[in-house]
Amino acid sequence: MIQPRFITFEGIDGSGKSTQARRLADYLRAQGADVILTREPGGSPGAEEIRQLLLTGDTDRWSAETEILLFTAARRDHLEKTILPALADDKTVVSDRFADSTRVYQGATRGDLRAKVDALHSLMIGREPDLTFIIDMDPATALQRGLARKSGEDRFEDFGLPFQETLRHGFLALAHADPARCVLIDGNRTMDQIASDVAAHL
Ligand code: ADP
Ligand code: TYD
Repeated sequence: MIQPRFITFEGIDGSGKSTQARRLADYLRAQGADVILTREPGGSPGAEEIRQLLLTGDTDRWSAETEILLFTAARRDHLEKTILPALADDKTVVSDRFADSTRVYQGATRGDLRAKVDALHSLMIGREPDLTFIIDMDPATALQRGLARKSGEDRFEDFGLPFQETLRHGFLALAHADPARCVLIDGNRTMDQIASDVAAHL
């Protein structure tokens, strides 16, 4: 089996993606891999600036359509400056979120904008991860965890619980639509149990 080198974590806010991305990077490093741990929106200096625009302020600061453009702009910079150079250097890239987040957060929450998301993705990004872990869990618990962090980057948490429930269904639909790439992980367990499950898939 060929070892996947571009691995992403996806799921609703507070589902444990950052924790598991970090744990997987540590695990792969312990196996001798050269790993870059990165995140979206962000992961390059320019994209981190766009992150601030997207995650702070009122929920109505941007329409879903404008968000598609901003997240894709950030992703293009992340891809050019961080992801593609690392892969070309034979490194493994573990990213906390990537294009599936745009498919669900912008494509399926405030009207059906999926065709626009897909068109811009194929025009400007055109790259999928080798493997994606979608962490599925109860939205109410995840939202509590996310808001408890008080990160100041809560614009999407502020859309509320029904929004998180819509997101959950969107991620489940993605996992079912692309089983060759996406692995569904039960996030309603301890961090150690989830980390072992993730490592077992590799
Ligand atoms: P995300 O990146 O999906 O928003 P995080 O990994 O930042 O999620 O986790 C959100 C919060 O929940 C953090 O405070 C983290 O320590 C905690 N957490 C993560 N995974 C678990 C788990 N399996 N059980 C309990 N708490 C968790
Ligand atoms: P993140 O920092 O991962 O938030 P959390 O730790 O709460 O999961 O991501 C920032 C927010 O940006 C998150 O609410 C999801 C949203 N987002 C989108 O709406 N579209 C996207 O394409 C990406 C990458 C993130």
